[in-house]
Amino acid sequence: MVGMERSAWTNNNNLVARVVALHRDTNAAGDVFGGWVVSHMDLAAVTMAEDRAGCKCVTVSIDGLVFRHPMMVGDELNVYARITKIGRTSIAIEVEAVRRIRRTSICQKVTHGYFTYVAIGVDGRPRPVDIAPWLPQ
Ligand SMILES: CC(C)(COP(=O)(O)OP(=O)(O)OC[C@H]1O[C@@H](n2cnc3c(N)ncnc32)[C@H](O)[C@@H]1OP(=O)(O)O)[C@@H](O)C(=O)NCCC(=O)NCCS
Repeated sequence: MVGMERSAWTNNNNLVARVVALHRDTNAAGDVFGGWVVSHMDLAAVTMAEDRAGCKCVTVSIDGLVFRHPMMVGDELNVYARITKIGRTSIAIEVEAVRRIRRTSICQKVTHGYFTYVAIGVDGRPRPVDIAPWLPQ
């Protein structure tokens, strides 16, 4: 559909963050800083990982990020996320960032990538995502 350029799996059920880009989020050239977009993707996805694991999770890798469209001040960043794999101690999450041009329904994919988190136990080491119920949480 014209003006709705985003992946087919994205929908209101996996919309995990909405935030408006402000002037303070721009780089020296006046465009929205790519790191600002990535930090919102990471924050949204780690929240999903921690909800699933029930403990602290840390980012171990971010793969495949390619920036396809710029963000402008006033654009609304929509972040979509879904868990794609649960390992022993890790959780992989597919994350897509979409800009909605302010006060319109025009959406464009900004970037998309795979974020992997590791569940961390109280000893600071990786712990199983699905911990055995007889072990301390
Ligand atoms: C994440 C961390 C705890 C992993 O420690 P580690 O000793 O390498 O742990 P392990 O080798 O036991 O691997 C743990 C899990 O991470 C996965 N993993 C390790 N490196 C990975 C990578 N580059 N990409 C994807 N997954 C990776 C492993 O496959 C394993 O998953 P599984 O148990 O589901 O099979 C450690 O590297 C760390 O603390 N990194 C810093 C995290 C951080 O500060 N992030 C924010 C940076 S600003």
